[in-house]
Amino acid sequence: MGNLKSVAVPLLLAFSLIHLPFAESLWFFNYHIHIRNDLPLLNLPPHQPNLLLHCNSKKRDIGDRPMTTGQDYTWETKINFFRTTLFFCNARWVGHKSRSFNAFIADRDEDRCLEYHTSCMWSVRANGIYFSYNNDTWFNEYPW
Ligand SMILES: *[C@@H]1O[C@H](CO)[C@@H](O)[C@H](O)[C@H]1NC(C)=O
Repeated sequence: MGNLKSVAVPLLLAFSLIHLPFAESLWFFNYHIHIRNDLPLLNLPPHQPNLLLHCNSKKRDIGDRPMTTGQDYTWETKINFFRTTLFFCNARWVGHKSRSFNAFIADRDEDRCLEYHTSCMWSVRANGIYFSYNNDTWFNEYPW
């Protein structure tokens, strides 16, 4: 028995040392969620909002946000203990299209949004809502 203990204790210790820092870090990272309006102006004057965003989680309502082309709307969140953090948005391209999308889902985004300044990058465009993990390559994850 003494022998098993002398092996098991250091093994357990080593295991926690490897796993703890990463597991804990999930709850300490502060994620930045960026949503940029990259819609074309068409015939609108540039100072007139052409996009209405409304985002909320179960606990936080970020409210209505009118946005002009080129504007970037950003907020921050941590991942909760149960890793169920979720921000849900509705984007309305005034006079054109509307759709809902998930701006942050802990399971989906905890790793991919670590790549670039702990940021989830979204870009609202004429044919959909694009995601990027590096602010360079864009994927149309929510076509209108
Ligand atoms: C993303 O890239 C654009 C254009 O290259 C730049 O203007 C913007 O500041 C970048 N956004 C962030 C959050 O770094």
